[in-house]
Amino acid sequence: MLRSIKIGIKGKIIFTIIPVLICSFTIFTFVSVFSSRQNLFYESNRFTKYKLEQLTNYSTNQWDNLQNSNFADDPVYINIIEKSIETYAKDMIRKKSESIFAIDTVGKLIFSTSNINYNQEDWVTLRTESTNSKEGLTEFIISGEKFLGLSSFSNINGLYFFIVENKKVFMEKTQQMTFLQIFTSLISLIVIIVILIMYLGIMLGPIQRVRKAIHNITTYKDFSRKVRIEYPDEIGELAFDFNDMTSNLDLAYKKLKKHAVDEAIAKKEIFIREKETLNVLGNASDYKDPETGAHIARVSNYSLLISKALGQDIAIQDLLYHTAPLHDIGKLGIPDSILLKAGKLTEEEFFIIKTHTTIGFNILKNSSSKYLKAGAVIAKTHHERFDGSGYPNGLKGTDIPVFGRIVSIADVFDALTTKRPYKEAWPFEKTMDFIMDNRGNHFDPDMANLFFQNLTEVKDIYNHCTEESL
Ligand SMILES: [Fe+2]
Ligand SMILES: [Fe+2]
Repeated sequence: MLRSIKIGIKGKIIFTIIPVLICSFTIFTFVSVFSSRQNLFYESNRFTKYKLEQLTNYSTNQWDNLQNSNFADDPVYINIIEKSIETYAKDMIRKKSESIFAIDTVGKLIFSTSNINYNQEDWVTLRTESTNSKEGLTEFIISGEKFLGLSSFSNINGLYFFIVENKKVFMEKTQQMTFLQIFTSLISLIVIIVILIMYLGIMLGPIQRVRKAIHNITTYKDFSRKVRIEYPDEIGELAFDFNDMTSNLDLAYKKLKKHAVDEAIAKKEIFIREKETLNVLGNASDYKDPETGAHIARVSNYSLLISKALGQDIAIQDLLYHTAPLHDIGKLGIPDSILLKAGKLTEEEFFIIKTHTTIGFNILKNSSSKYLKAGAVIAKTHHERFDGSGYPNGLKGTDIPVFGRIVSIADVFDALTTKRPYKEAWPFEKTMDFIMDNRGNHFDPDMANLFFQNLTEVKDIYNHCTEESL
């Protein structure tokens, strides 16, 4: 996420405020520089205009005086007047970059305060431009150099006066002022940004510490970390409330942990009791049933093997493993004379024997234990047959509970492969053939196939799960 690019509160404030500050300072600096330059031009213009008026007035007065005398046409006096005007003009000069010129109507230079020699074309340019510069300082280009100037025309003697200043020199001062203004603004901006960042660091420090403390809680379940309260302000109150909350949470978490441990211990005890109950029941049926403890253990292991092959859940496998031994618990209710009879049973006796399924179910059915409940189902259904010819209810196919179908294979396989008072033990291969031959009528065909497919494991149980090994 742009989540990958994480921007905190500090970053957000900085990325919001700094552009605004930069924009504000840029506008402020631009307006400030622009208005300063305008003021400078205005003042320069005003001052130049004033000087030009003074010079023009002085010139007019001098020519008036000459015309009122008898020497108006005397070149010597005219020369004296012109020199007088030139001297007056030179006295007006305050800067080296400034010059004052006087040109007659044909472009002839009358005087110049500058040492630079301009050609005839330059003077024409000056005169032409000067007629356009009545409103203020105008830019001139003479001999490739730029000048700013202002002119006036004296009718009485037909002279153009103009004051010019080298633009480059004039602009140097302006640029110095502009640079100073930009530099000052930039320094101010940097100082403000640094102060802002420092201030944000101080302001957001406690919030960062609260965030780290929350991170420790969620990651390490560490409620002990407290946030330092620096100032009695809103953030200080937040830190205080946070510390208070974590203390309460710490207490609640410890209580919860203790309850969880107590519950786990209680569950384990219940589990142990249930296993003990199963053992007791298993032992009780052992006393009555001629079948041995090894038969019980093998039926459990064969059942577990089929359950695993079916891909059943581990908890289901465990349930089946521990409840398969209860399949014949109903034999507790069968008289010994029938149960232990060595010879062939009469029809009536066989009928009584068959009731061990429902007796077992009735013994276990009302328990709230999942083990005993599962045991009840197994006890009732382990003699049902897949084709519906079994007992006690003649259930068919998948109507027979899975546990019943599994234990049916396990029980018959072990009963046939072991010696009983009324018969010899069948060979392993013959018994396996019997199971396979009775797929679909006695046994669930899929389960029988799985049993056969795990021949090695079946043989392992057959060979090693014996009376001696228990
Ligand atoms: Fe049985
Ligand atoms: Fe059995």
